[in-house]
Amino acid sequence: MEKRKKNLVVLVSGGGSNMAAILESIDRGEICGEVKAVISSNAQAYALTRARERGIPAYVCARADFESNEARDAEILRICRRADADYVLLAGYLGILSPAIIEAYPYRLINIHPALLPKFGGKGFFGIHVHEAVLKAGERESGATVHFVANEIDTGLIIAQGKVQVQENDTPHSLQERVLDNVEHKLFPQVVGWLCDDKVRVQNGRVEIG
Ligand code: GRF
Repeated sequence: MEKRKKNLVVLVSGGGSNMAAILESIDRGEICGEVKAVISSNAQAYALTRARERGIPAYVCARADFESNEARDAEILRICRRADADYVLLAGYLGILSPAIIEAYPYRLINIHPALLPKFGGKGFFGIHVHEAVLKAGERESGATVHFVANEIDTGLIIAQGKVQVQENDTPHSLQERVLDNVEHKLFPQVVGWLCDDKVRVQNGRVEIG
C-alpha cells in the first residue's frame, strides 16, 4: 500500500532558505510530504515569493494586523487546520507562538535553531545575534538544533543536532553562512523526512529515531 503523504505547513519570517531546502528535498523524493501552505509574519519576506513561485498558498499573519498574539495565532491555527497539517514547521519564524497553537500540535510543531541548544537559546537569541554570542563566548564549535516546540522558547525536546567548527577568522556572518549551508539545509529536511516516515517517537520524555 502506498504511504500517505504528510501535509506540511511552514511558518517563515525571512529569506526562507530552510523552506527552500525542504521543498528541494521533497522534489528529490526524499520526503513523503507536501507543503500545503506557507505563513509569514512579515509581508516582505522573500520566502513568500519562493512559495508563490511554486504555486503554494502563501499567507501573511503580521502581528500588527491583529489585536493580540492570540488573535494572530487563531488565524494561523485556522490556516493549519484548513491545510489538514500533520506537521507545522518553523523555518526561521520569528514570532512567539501562544500556548493554544503549541498545544494544538503536540510533537507536531518543529523549529530549527541556529546553535547547539540548550546553549545560545531563549529570548534575544535569534538570527545573527546567536552567532555573535557564540563567537563572543569563544566557542570552538557551533551548529543547529531541530526540536519540538514547547511553551518556553527553545526548550522543547531535541530531535537532532549538527555541528560545525568555529574558525579563528569567523565573523558572525561567515559562521551564520557555514551553519546554514553545512548543517541547517541538510538537517531540517532530514528530520522532516523522518517525521513523514513516522520514524520519530517520543517515549518517556526521550526522542527515539528509527
Ligand atoms: C535560520 O538560521 C534559522 O535557523 C533561524 O532563522 C534563520 C532563517 O533563515 N531560526 P531562512 O529564512 O530559512 O533563510
